[in-house]
Amino acid sequence: MARENWTSSIGFILASAGSAIGLGNIWKFPYMAGTNGGGTFVFVYLLCVFLIGLPVMCSEMLIGRVTRRNVINALGKIELISSSTFGRNILCFLAGAAMVLFASIHAWLLAGASLIGAVAFARKGFAAVGWVCAILSFAILSYYAVVGGWIVEYIWRSLTATFTDIEGVTAIEVAKQSTAEFGAYTANPWRVLIGFAIFMALTGAVILGGIQAGIERVSKILMPALFVLLLVVIVRSVTLPGAWEGVVFLLKPTAAAFSPKVIMMALGQAFFSLSLGMAITVTYGSYLKRDQSILHAAGWVGILDTLAALLAGLAIFPAVFSVGLDPSAGPGLIFGALPATFATMPLGAIWATAFFFMLLIAAVTSSASLLECTATVLIERMRKHHKRCTRRCAVWIAFITCSLAGLLSVFSTADWTYLPCVEKGVRWCLGSLTQGNWFDTLDNLCSNWGLPFTALIIALLIGWVYGTRRAKINLLSSDASKNPPKWLLTAWGISVKWIAPVAILIVFLTMSGLLKL
Ligand code: PFF
Repeated sequence: MARENWTSSIGFILASAGSAIGLGNIWKFPYMAGTNGGGTFVFVYLLCVFLIGLPVMCSEMLIGRVTRRNVINALGKIELISSSTFGRNILCFLAGAAMVLFASIHAWLLAGASLIGAVAFARKGFAAVGWVCAILSFAILSYYAVVGGWIVEYIWRSLTATFTDIEGVTAIEVAKQSTAEFGAYTANPWRVLIGFAIFMALTGAVILGGIQAGIERVSKILMPALFVLLLVVIVRSVTLPGAWEGVVFLLKPTAAAFSPKVIMMALGQAFFSLSLGMAITVTYGSYLKRDQSILHAAGWVGILDTLAALLAGLAIFPAVFSVGLDPSAGPGLIFGALPATFATMPLGAIWATAFFFMLLIAAVTSSASLLECTATVLIERMRKHHKRCTRRCAVWIAFITCSLAGLLSVFSTADWTYLPCVEKGVRWCLGSLTQGNWFDTLDNLCSNWGLPFTALIIALLIGWVYGTRRAKINLLSSDASKNPPKWLLTAWGISVKWIAPVAILIVFLTMSGLLKL
C-alpha cells in the first residue's frame, strides 16, 4: 500500500500542533513558571524552545522523512545508511555514564536500567532507543491521564455550576475556596479515579474506534476556538484589580531567580510541550512530502505551541496576583485561579464549561498520540519476534497496562498515605530523584531526565552519525522557493551538533551534583 502523505503543509502543521498543544501548555507551563521564578523561567524556556527544542524537532521530522518508517526502524535505518559504529559506541558510553551517575545518587533501578540499556545499545544500536521512547510515552500517559481526569471533573463542576453560582462572593473568596476544594478533591483518590477512567476511556476510544481522523477534524475547529477563549479569559484576568503585578511576574526576568534547576525545568518543559523525545514527530515526519520545508513546519509548530503557553500564562497570573493566590502553588494553580476568573464573568458557567471542554479535546489529541506511540512500538517488537499482534491487540495491551500504571498516580496525587509500601520501594529504586509523591516523581523523571535523554540521542544521531551536511540537504524542500535563508540552516547545524548535546549534558551533570557551576 502506498504511504499516504500530508496533502498540505497546513494539515501537517495542525496535526503536529494538535499533539504539541495540550495540558502541557495550559496546566503545566503556568505552574512550572510559578514555581521557578516567573519571568526568569519564561525567558530560559524561550531560549530552550528556539535554541534546542526546534532544532531537535527538525531532526525528528527529518529522520521520519528520510526513512519513511516508524520510530524503531527509522532510527535503525539512519544508523545503517550512515554505516558507522561510532554512534553505537557513543550510545554505550552514554548509557555507561548514566549508570555511574544514577548509582552516585542511589537511584538503583535507573542504574540497572542503564546497564541493560548499554547492552541493548551495543547489540541493536539506535533501534534500541525505540524502547526508551515507548517506556516514556507509556509513563507520561499514566500521569497525563490523571490531569485529564481533573479536567473532566472541572467540566462537570462548571456544568453543575458549583464554582460559578456565587453571587455576592468576591473573586478572592472564590479563589481561596477553589484552591481548598481542589486540595480536598485530589485527596480523595476514588473521586479522582472516576475522571481518570473517563479520560483513559476517551483516549482508548479515539485510537481503538479509529476516530482519530474525526477527532483531528474536530480539533481543527476547537483548537482555534481555544485560542480565542484564552484571549477572552486574558481580557477578564488583566482587568481584575491588581492584575498588572501578574503580568510583570510572568514577563520580567530577574537575575536572583536564576539557577541551574530553572534551566533543567525549562528544558524538560520545552521537550514535554513540543512533544519531543518520544519520536512522535518522527512518525509525523514520515508522511511529509519532499516539497515541504521542514524548517518552516517546525517553526510554525514551535510558534503556535509557545503562543498557547504564553497566552495561558497571561490568563492565569494576573488572576493569581489579583486574588492573592500563591504563584508557586504547584499543579493545582489553574484550578484555583481559573474558577475565580470565571466567577467574575457574566455567564461564567458557560465560559467555564466551554473552556474546560476545549482543553479536554486538546488533551485527548495529545494523549492519543502517546497511546499510539506505545502501541506502535509493541506491534513492531512483536512482529520482529514473529509473534502476531494486531494493532487492536497492541492498543488494548497498551491501554490496560497504562490504566493500571496510572492507578499509582491516582492514589498518590495527595501524598503517599494510600501507598506506604510503594513509597519505600520507590525511594530505593529512584534515590534522590524521588519527589513529593509518585505523580511528581514520575513527571520529574520523564520530563526532566527521560525526554532530554532521548532528545540528546536524536541530536547526536543527526549531528554526528548521519552528519549535518547530508541532513541540511534533506531539510530543504524540493521547491526552492519554499526554502529558508542559509543562516537558519547553519544555525540549525550548530545547534544539533553542539548546542543541544552540550547543553543537555551540562544540565544532567549539574543536576546530579557531579558538576558545580
Ligand atoms: N505536548 C503535550 C502537551 O503539551 O500537553 C504532551 C505530550 C504529548 C508530550 C505527546 C509528549 C507527546 F509525545
